Amino acid sequence: MTTPEAPAVGSATSPDTPDTDIHRERILILDFGSQYTQLIARRVREVGVYCEIRAFDIDEAVAREFNPNGVILSGGPESVTADDTLRAPQFIFEMGLPVLGICYGMQTMALQLGGRVEGSDKQEFGYARVRVDSDGELLREIHDELDGGQPYLDVWMSHGDKVTALPPGFDGLASTETTEFAAMSDETRHFYGVQFHPEVNHTLQGMAILDRFVIGICQCEGLWTPANIVEDIIESVRAKVGDDQVILGLSGGVDSSVVAALLSRAIGDQLTCVFVDNGLLRLGEADEVVRSLGTDSDNAFRLNIVRVDAEQRFLEKLEDIEDPEQKRKIIGNTFIDVFDEEAAKLENVKYLAQGTIYPDVIESAGNKGGKAHVIKSHHNVGGLPDYMKLDLIEPLRELFKDEVRKIGLEVGLSHELVFRHPFPGPGLGVRILGPITKGYADMLRQADHIFIEELRAAGLYDSVSQAFTVFLPVKSVGVVGDARRYEYVVALRAVETIDFMTARWAHLPYPFLERVSSRIINEIRGISRVTYDISSKPPATIEWE
Ligand code: XMP
Repeated sequence: MTTPEAPAVGSATSPDTPDTDIHRERILILDFGSQYTQLIARRVREVGVYCEIRAFDIDEAVAREFNPNGVILSGGPESVTADDTLRAPQFIFEMGLPVLGICYGMQTMALQLGGRVEGSDKQEFGYARVRVDSDGELLREIHDELDGGQPYLDVWMSHGDKVTALPPGFDGLASTETTEFAAMSDETRHFYGVQFHPEVNHTLQGMAILDRFVIGICQCEGLWTPANIVEDIIESVRAKVGDDQVILGLSGGVDSSVVAALLSRAIGDQLTCVFVDNGLLRLGEADEVVRSLGTDSDNAFRLNIVRVDAEQRFLEKLEDIEDPEQKRKIIGNTFIDVFDEEAAKLENVKYLAQGTIYPDVIESAGNKGGKAHVIKSHHNVGGLPDYMKLDLIEPLRELFKDEVRKIGLEVGLSHELVFRHPFPGPGLGVRILGPITKGYADMLRQADHIFIEELRAAGLYDSVSQAFTVFLPVKSVGVVGDARRYEYVVALRAVETIDFMTARWAHLPYPFLERVSSRIINEIRGISRVTYDISSKPPATIEWE
């Protein structure tokens, strides 16, 4: 990826091409451990400005080198009134930059600059109407008005503590019945605080507030657009790769497909994609990927795809394995072995491309403020060992998933591919409970295909975040005609979620479920019962294993 110091690539091309010096403007987000920190970053990007999340106690040299146009202090789970809780480094307030504190970020800002924060016995949680007392730069003209002309904002609150005395130089901007200072500002130093969460959708004017801060107050133009990002990636991949060859593990999922499409634009046939059929893919998946992206496809990509049929090898390794984590390890390791063998057959390969995205980077950085909890080990394709000695190309390393999708559409991938539900690396391997057999995988593939086909036909596919079928290795009694059948059970699973950390089971219509169930039972030999999973996450997880 382009580093901050890299020259403006846009300037090297014609005046009509977009200005792709997209990292020139940047916002620094300091994380105090809020569940919404990534959401703040996504919103700032949506406004059109590059930003990065760093731990709250960032080093001064690092912050200065990052050279932001403004700083946002996130919310956090702690109370500033308790001993030894997190504080922003004092230099942040001495850099001459605009600072926006959100919730905990506002409270620590108030405290550190000489105000007072107190615990309150009246917590405000959820929807609130905030009265705008004086707009300042931050809220200027972005509120709504009640009948009596009273300006207000519809916001999402989640706090116990509150600012009870403003620091010197600050004015109150907004209030609620119980919170005198729901927003504050020091217009001279460009310091702002909001007690509510502008990054959350429920805050109706939230995007406008963030836009005002990032574009208006920090004076950014908004260079971070899909077209500019694509140009930037293409130019930096070309500059890095030169005449060398690149290999990519293509899975058919969104991330690796977007990487493939970008690389095909950047370096054409210097890219070779390896698609491993592990026998645990969805129905017709391998054919479909080759058909839609391969050399014979009728779009611009024409990827050189090496298809490896490794079904038998995977199934042999997985024979009699029951433990889900062990299955994941075997599938991950076998993938690496197969991929490694294919890579060795190609000449002059110097780079390995991967679909790593920004949330993976944040998580592996072990963000101090974050409280991420590992429940299952996720082995994605592409986690290759050191001995492969290839340099990495990770064109999506700075992007959130929603940005990857926008980029995918921008480079011309189909809506259907770009908005596909996620599919786990171990595939059907973790959707067949207990030991895996080819017979089980075949039944599951067909059942899953019917479910997804019906979701698409009913126009419901895009309204759920992920849907799939799980094979249960138990037999139950059924009757077909006069005959008694003693056959297997499948469960349908569909969830709605924003971040896949929490999820609600999707309330699919009964007539729809009835149609899917009767098709599965009638069309697939070996399945005589269909159930629908009505567990939400937590406490259940999305996958069954
Ligand atoms: P859970 O089951 O943990 O799933 O609620 C959350 C999301 O992660 C996906 N998932 C995986 N993805 N390798 C992957 O690449 C895995 O081992 C794995 N396990 C779960 C799951 O499909 C859902 O989108």
